[in-house]
Amino acid sequence: MTITDAAILDYVDAREAPRAPSGRIKLHGPEAFVGMRNAGQLAAACLDMLVPEVKAGVSTRRLDDLAREFILDHGALPACIFYRGYRHTICTSLNHVVCHGIPGDRALRDDDIVNIDVTAIVDGWHGDTSRMYAVGAPKRKAQRLMDTTYEALMAGIAVIRPGATLGDVGAAIQAKAHGERFSVVREFCGHGLGEVFHDAPNVLHYGRAGAGQVLKAGMIFTVEPMINYGAPGVRILSDGWTAVTKDKSLTAQYEHSVGVTEDGVEIFTRSPAGLDQPHALLAASA
Ligand code: MF3
Ligand code: CO
Ligand code: CO
Repeated sequence: MTITDAAILDYVDAREAPRAPSGRIKLHGPEAFVGMRNAGQLAAACLDMLVPEVKAGVSTRRLDDLAREFILDHGALPACIFYRGYRHTICTSLNHVVCHGIPGDRALRDDDIVNIDVTAIVDGWHGDTSRMYAVGAPKRKAQRLMDTTYEALMAGIAVIRPGATLGDVGAAIQAKAHGERFSVVREFCGHGLGEVFHDAPNVLHYGRAGAGQVLKAGMIFTVEPMINYGAPGVRILSDGWTAVTKDKSLTAQYEHSVGVTEDGVEIFTRSPAGLDQPHALLAASA
């Protein structure tokens, strides 16, 4: 999501709070974790389903059709259709597209890398996740960028537990990216979610350890770093959605929806087929 506010936020019991985003951080109970597990698993299964479909000659519109049918066939709803005027089930962000790439007639070609981002609503709960897919065997440079972005996501998630801070998450992600001399996109961030798609807090993918909001059990949010091969700057195309790197450099993103537990973190959007990781995706689509 786009960063809109940087205020210091308060916490609220999600069961007593109005559903609408209020700027306060909701602390969810066990029933929310059940709902998020179901929604997260369906969204992840949708990305699994797409693995063999991502190949040269296939249009991004075809992938969008497949994702929409999969979600509807499972009695769920695609969260992005009609979201702020968006008309599609997935975002397909190719090569130098950072995020929010719009599915269309563009056919995939060998050497493309593409992020597919899907959000499914199951019983009112939002499962939001994205992964990178490679068309054909990726170049070393692309592989390194995808691997590092996945590692950055997982390093950010690894520090999540009650008492840690959002700054710890951002710092862990940033350290991975900078370790490979890549840059972190600053214009988009992770977000609280649950019965609301984009809620407080903003989850920045850079930051200082110890800074930012303290994590508490019951918080539910996404972590979704966008990492650029070149400079961090992005711009939005005239369609109002597509975000690209200003320098046209390659970019990658991975996203999980997670919840803070009493002793750590639960990842709701792990791949049921074990296809989360970049090399696993490759092996499965070879
Ligand atoms: N799934 C995206 C996210 O991670 C949001 C996409 S909004 C859309 O927050 F309208 F572009 F689909
Ligand atoms: Co998201
Ligand atoms: Co998403």
